[in-house]
Amino acid sequence: MTRPAVLFVCLGNICRSPMAEGAFRAEAERAGLDVAIDSAGTAAYHVGEPPDPRAQATARAHGAEIGHLRGRQLVAEDFFRFTHVLVMDHSNLANAQAIVPPGSITRPMLLLDLVAGREGAAVADPYYGGEEHFEDTWDDVSRAARALVASLRQ
Ligand code: 4NP
Repeated sequence: MTRPAVLFVCLGNICRSPMAEGAFRAEAERAGLDVAIDSAGTAAYHVGEPPDPRAQATARAHGAEIGHLRGRQLVAEDFFRFTHVLVMDHSNLANAQAIVPPGSITRPMLLLDLVAGREGAAVADPYYGGEEHFEDTWDDVSRAARALVASLRQ
């Protein structure tokens, strides 16, 4: 079987997707899962930047260090490099679907489609919100991370 490779995608790659990356890395390490992990944004606004300080602080409070990550933009080639492209909201989904290259078999899907009872829901954008919104983001992405680890272990 090919080694799974998981890419988390949001708009800016400084809040939700680096938090998802950190949550999933922690869960995968706990489970001893061999998996490639990365994140990207559909927009180029924050390319080369570290995650938002609020995202870093929330992840750190939950035991995940994400301060070394740097923003990058989603590219068509990602659909050949990753087995899973997991997006945060419906706008990310439309933007990702628009650049799926011919010949790739990976299709973008909503991250919360992995969580029972949350299918079709979005991970809300916390960028313009307060600290509590980042806690909500952590809650969503860590639930999805646990569900993904459980499904990849099977
Ligand atoms: P993210 O949050 O997509 O979760 O990284 C955002 C970050 C930046 C912006 C919007 C959302 N922005 O407009 O700069």
